[in-house]
Amino acid sequence: MIFDEYYIKSLVRPIQDWPKPGVTFRDITPVYLSPKAQRMVADSLIQRYVETEITHIGALDARGFLLGSVLAYELNKPLVLFRKQGKLPSDTLQQAYDIEYGQAVLEVHKDAIPAGASVLLLDDLIATGGTLCAAASLVKALQATIYEAAAIIDLPDLGGSQRLQDLGIPTYTLCAF
Ligand code: PRP
Ligand code: ADE
Repeated sequence: MIFDEYYIKSLVRPIQDWPKPGVTFRDITPVYLSPKAQRMVADSLIQRYVETEITHIGALDARGFLLGSVLAYELNKPLVLFRKQGKLPSDTLQQAYDIEYGQAVLEVHKDAIPAGASVLLLDDLIATGGTLCAAASLVKALQATIYEAAAIIDLPDLGGSQRLQDLGIPTYTLCAF
């Protein structure tokens, strides 16, 4: 299926002043209500990453899990869950970070990524880049590399994709607002 950026963008619903005044929240739930849109998004990322040297898929809590599990299944790769604090039961590494409307701590199991792995990080959206930067620093702390950080949506005015690229992390998004 050919990727239609305008179709996907038409399904992303802007919610003004949520969860805080001044924030325009880009709601992806209508994208997931459309089987056609789900397939378009997943197929276009699968095409991009099939036959690459990626060894692991890293999915970011929570909306990144939606893409992460589909890509890990289709590419036949291990799926690593990066979770918000207090959700992972075994030994973790932790990284604090800021997002557009708050602060959080991201964790990953220490034994989830072997040294030398090449990790594709997936999330739904890049705003300030805080979440993906936190995941990237956890990957690096485990002596692995980031193949690319990918998301459905970029919000370039918030600077996140530029911040990731300035850190030497290749970034890929399917559309921008
Ligand atoms: C949202 C979104 C990204 C992050 C992007 O997650 O799903 O993970 O913010 O913002 P950033 O680029 O400024 O880091 P959120 O923390 O709201 O959690 P959720 O996925 O559990 O809704
Ligand atoms: N995460 C951070 N900023 C966001 C926004 N504006 N819309 C949806 N998710 C977000």
